[in-house]
Amino acid sequence: MKGDTTSPFALDAVLSQKYPFTLPALPYAPAAVEPAVDAQTMTIHHDRHHAAYVTNLNKALEAQPTLHAVTLGELLMGLRRWPAAVQTAIRNNGGGHANHALFWNLLAPGAKSAAAPTGQLADMITRDFGTLAAVNTALKTAAVGQFGSGWSWLVKTATNRLAVRGLPNQDSPLLEGELPIVGIDVWEHAYYLKYQNRRADYVDAILARINWDVASAQLG
Ligand SMILES: [Fe+2]
Repeated sequence: MKGDTTSPFALDAVLSQKYPFTLPALPYAPAAVEPAVDAQTMTIHHDRHHAAYVTNLNKALEAQPTLHAVTLGELLMGLRRWPAAVQTAIRNNGGGHANHALFWNLLAPGAKSAAAPTGQLADMITRDFGTLAAVNTALKTAAVGQFGSGWSWLVKTATNRLAVRGLPNQDSPLLEGELPIVGIDVWEHAYYLKYQNRRADYVDAILARINWDVASAQLG
């Protein structure tokens, strides 16, 4: 998998991290994605929520020196191989770290327009969904229909197809061997200050700000 290597939040860069894991700064100013995401929500979401996943992942692995040589990507993709005592922490906090890293990178800041998919991703969308509008409709349906906290995902499956998944909590598609391409955070912490209960409006705003150049780069 490949990503936007200019950003410390490129998925490859974050999945290559090992203990102790670190939280890079946001790749843009907190207000850069307004009005879709207000600056206060962006700051709290990154500085407190994402930071907590990193802190708690480090706490969980502190007493597991054999895991200190294992990358975040390996921790998630091989979850069942690790000690039972830390599997839940890896799933929740390792997933949270990887998921949010991708999410920040996927949002188009400032005047940068949310470009259309290109290359392999564009071809796969045509083959598997027909149109980008159909992808967006499926992502929105999964996002709005996700009961409680979770994410709506566009993934590449193990059989090299595109699919949309609604996954609970911080479950990463990597847990099931699927490559995340687009993720929409539908935890209330992602939208409640600005949108309150209007999750569908938030999802519409995020879909309009997806940086499809970054999503396309996930497939190389
Ligand atoms: Fe979040």
